[in-house]
Amino acid sequence: MKGLILSGGKGTRLRPLTYTSAKQLVPVANKPVLFYAIETLVEAGIRDIGIIVGDTKDEIIAAVGKGDRWDINITYIPQEAPLGLAHAVKIAEDFLGDNRFVMYLGDNMIEESIRPLVEEFSTGDSTYQCQILLKQVPNPESYGVAELDPSNLEKVVRLVEKPREPQSDLALVGIYMFDHHIFEAVNNIKPSWRNELEITDAIQYLVDKGYNVRPKIVKGWWVDTGKQADMLEVNRLILDRVERKVEGVVDRDSSVNGKVIVAKTAEIINSVVRGPAIIGEHCRVVNSYIGPFTSINHHCTITDSEIEHSIILENSQVLDISGRIEDSLIGRNVVVEKSPIKPKAYKFLLGDNSKVGILC
Ligand code: DAU
Repeated sequence: MKGLILSGGKGTRLRPLTYTSAKQLVPVANKPVLFYAIETLVEAGIRDIGIIVGDTKDEIIAAVGKGDRWDINITYIPQEAPLGLAHAVKIAEDFLGDNRFVMYLGDNMIEESIRPLVEEFSTGDSTYQCQILLKQVPNPESYGVAELDPSNLEKVVRLVEKPREPQSDLALVGIYMFDHHIFEAVNNIKPSWRNELEITDAIQYLVDKGYNVRPKIVKGWWVDTGKQADMLEVNRLILDRVERKVEGVVDRDSSVNGKVIVAKTAEIINSVVRGPAIIGEHCRVVNSYIGPFTSINHHCTITDSEIEHSIILENSQVLDISGRIEDSLIGRNVVVEKSPIKPKAYKFLLGDNSKVGILC
């Protein structure tokens, strides 16, 4: 089986972070979301992976490389514009050939191993042309939605992309398994109202033509990391399963409690770190409190401040902030500091689509 990871697209819901960076490279517990996708495929035994890339191609290639890190082969497939998930399959036909494959949306994260499903789908059970993963969700209107036959829950009846009035609460998880019949489907569908070739419509085509589409309901968590709240939630879920590893300097006046990773070159001075949390390479945490579910990426400085349930990207500084920072996603090279200059006032330099919450 081959793998196809979709890492193009625009990432509008994570602006302003995604003005300067690919949404699939935003880190969760200090590791890019895209790496989790690759590792899920590698763990399932897949060693030949194509990655669809768009405008952020160079950055993705720089971060992922040729696959040596995982001892796999990576092929980059450029997409001229985000014309839809089914369009991405179309342009990957040369790479995929006649192989069965797993298509994985590069901004999705899933708890369970997909190895058993991949093995089942790859080992000659050719009565199925497609396998889809589904998850019960409270807001199905935000996803592709599947309706199953009530008298046979192994049978998919209908799939609709982001329906206004969903007829089921089963969302399509961004992990799909196909054989070569999907090319017939993607070549026969028309663009949707949002002018994209939808994979949901392509799978509906398979259903309509009488091909077998097998639904599998996912039990563990699944997160589409497109929005800030989802990023923070998946950061919480991943940090919850890290193992304590304190390698950096923790001075005598500090305490580091619970599941905490402190990188080798990080320093914790006169501070409290309460896990689960991760502090990256070359960080300095001084006179501060780092609370549960916080990821601080490399080369950050935190002094005289309190941060909890947040993600801070590399090279940023939080200096002398009196109120606690919570539920925040702070980008790269950001400075949040107490302004020393009179008059006493808020002083901002914020990019487009930034969001600031002020204590009144
Ligand atoms: O996350 C699951 C949902 O993903 C499914 O429930 C929906 O049925 C499916 O259509 C998809 O919906 P989204 O609106 O969330 O897809 P998004 O545009 O965010 O794209 C998903 C990934 O694919 C993302 O990493 C960007 C990449 N992509 C997207 C498009 C449209 C491409 O590489 N090329 C594209 O043309």
